[in-house]
Amino acid sequence: MADAMIIADNLVKIYKTKEIEVLALQGLDLTVQSGELMAIIGNSGSGKSTFLNMIGGLDRPSAGTLFVDGQDLFKMTDRELVKYKKNTVGFVWQNNARNLLPYLTALENVMTPMLFSSVQKKKERAAELLELVGMGHRKNSRLHQLSGGEQQRIAIAIALANHPKLLLADEPTGSVDRRTGDYILDVFRSLNKELGITIVIVTHDTALTKKVQRVVSIRDGKISSERILKEEYQNPADVTFDWLTEETQDEFAVVDKAGRIQLPQEQLEQLQLAGNKVRIRYENGRILIEAPEQT
Ligand SMILES: Nc1ncnc2c1ncn2[C@@H]1O[C@H](COP(=O)(O)OP(=O)(O)OP(=O)(O)O)[C@@H](O)[C@H]1O
Ligand SMILES: [Mg+2]
Repeated sequence: MADAMIIADNLVKIYKTKEIEVLALQGLDLTVQSGELMAIIGNSGSGKSTFLNMIGGLDRPSAGTLFVDGQDLFKMTDRELVKYKKNTVGFVWQNNARNLLPYLTALENVMTPMLFSSVQKKKERAAELLELVGMGHRKNSRLHQLSGGEQQRIAIAIALANHPKLLLADEPTGSVDRRTGDYILDVFRSLNKELGITIVIVTHDTALTKKVQRVVSIRDGKISSERILKEEYQNPADVTFDWLTEETQDEFAVVDKAGRIQLPQEQLEQLQLAGNKVRIRYENGRILIEAPEQT
């Protein structure tokens, strides 16, 4: 696939410590196209941050395949990985302390990671990026003078400093209120639209993800289902509606290469299984899953 930004195939991550072994990713398959704006949701401990860290080159996967922008993350040397982290990906964290330097101004913060030669160039680019995230008017403010949501927008500008093709955000709206979170999501949407940058956002917040093209759910280190934005919501400028109350996406279960699907918890409960077996029948173009007759 020529224009895939991320290809993860049967990706496995095992964390090993002296006492325990955690299987954080259990054969995860996911392809993200160039220019996509998508979100990953899932319960705490399901493997969201682990997956993002693998894509961001912050940690090495244990097995499987992982390509980002045509580069094989399994084959990279440590030196290549450092370069990859600087040039290909930008990262935004939930925790501002990890994104920002408190004693610098907004402008200086955005200039810090820049690889360009002249100070003048850095200043210009940093000012441009602050404009882009709607913070141009606060470029000389120090961080303690800014709200959490404003700091998060500065963090996004920093992540964009070296023209990454891929922006990764781990719970970027985790410590701001709903309205600010909504605004930050709009910043991502406009960056995606204006710059064509591929964006992957990890979140707990299912309401916020209603605006993105695609949402995948991770359960136990695997993709279990996907939601896709309905056609009538693809062009939000054309219509006015309340994102939070309307059903903007269709939900699908994901079938893996071995033909496995995960039944949604709700449907599983409705089946009222006595054991661990179901009957599967093919009927008039449909597959029916039934509880077996009790004997
Ligand atoms: N460095 C590590 N060493 C050992 N286990 C780890 C490490 N990092 C994560 N884990 C484990 O891997 C699993 C997945 O963790 P991960 O941080 O990816 O979850 P998450 O989906 O991001 O959760 P949350 O929503 O709480 O951030 C968890 O069981 C976690 O305890
Ligand atoms: Mg996490």
